[in-house]
Amino acid sequence: MGKNKQQEQLDLLDQLAGQGLIEDVLGVVKSGKEATVYCCTLRATGALVAAKVYRGADVRRFANDASYREGRLRRKTRFSRAIETKTRKGREFAFGAWVHDEYETLGVLHRAGADVPEPVALQDNVIVMEYIGDEGEPAPPLGALRLDEPEARDAFSAILRNIELALACDRVHGDLSPFNVLYWDGRVRLIDFPQAVDARFNSNARTLLERDVGNICAYFSRDGVEADAARISRDLWSRYIRAEL
Ligand SMILES: Nc1ncnc2c1ncn2[C@@H]1O[C@H](COP(=O)(O)OP(=O)(O)OP(=O)(O)O)[C@@H](O)[C@H]1O
Ligand SMILES: [Mg+2]
Repeated sequence: MGKNKQQEQLDLLDQLAGQGLIEDVLGVVKSGKEATVYCCTLRATGALVAAKVYRGADVRRFANDASYREGRLRRKTRFSRAIETKTRKGREFAFGAWVHDEYETLGVLHRAGADVPEPVALQDNVIVMEYIGDEGEPAPPLGALRLDEPEARDAFSAILRNIELALACDRVHGDLSPFNVLYWDGRVRLIDFPQAVDARFNSNARTLLERDVGNICAYFSRDGVEADAARISRDLWSRYIRAEL
């Protein structure tokens, strides 16, 4: 990331500090494709929080990806027309919508009891949420770990439980992989939800669910956890459409 971009992000965090939300920025956890995640302390409690600061709209990989976007804006508003015509205003609106959608999804899933970081605050393009890890190190993603078989079995069933819980809330992650699951103290946390789709309105939901389940099964098969990905997603989907989840 260029120096200017990082300075812009730090200025944003300064603003959150000025408003009394954040106390300190302890460091960068990771600079990803769409966002940089900072470890901060919360003024009110001193707790560690993660601040996910999104980059500008024009560099977003999926900002114009129609398959994710479908069903997101159902009425033809001035904004949805602006997005379709890819005007600057439209891009800015779509960008704001991704950040907002991620925050909203975290809230829905957290309230439903899913293993996701608890969302704390949303401002501009910053999501403040529970930090997974400790001051010494952030939780590693599953993809960077090799679990032993009993741990792998537990983590696998925990992730499937979370996929099911999310679907019961009409949500499909849509970009689930071992790199979007953090592992800490023997517990999984699913992260990175901006592209999550609403299964009631998005006709790609089932395909995205199959891909999510497939990615997770493929990862765990390396650790000797055998599972039939196609059967799992078929079963989940058929229970979902019969409102049996
Ligand atoms: N709540 C959190 N607590 C601790 N670390 C976190 C938290 N949220 C995100 N991270 C770290 O920041 C990284 C990037 O977060 P996230 O996946 O949400 O953003 P991203 O921009 O999509 O990144 P990527 O392109 O790497 O997928 C994660 O892989 C993880 O290491
Ligand atoms: Mg990610």
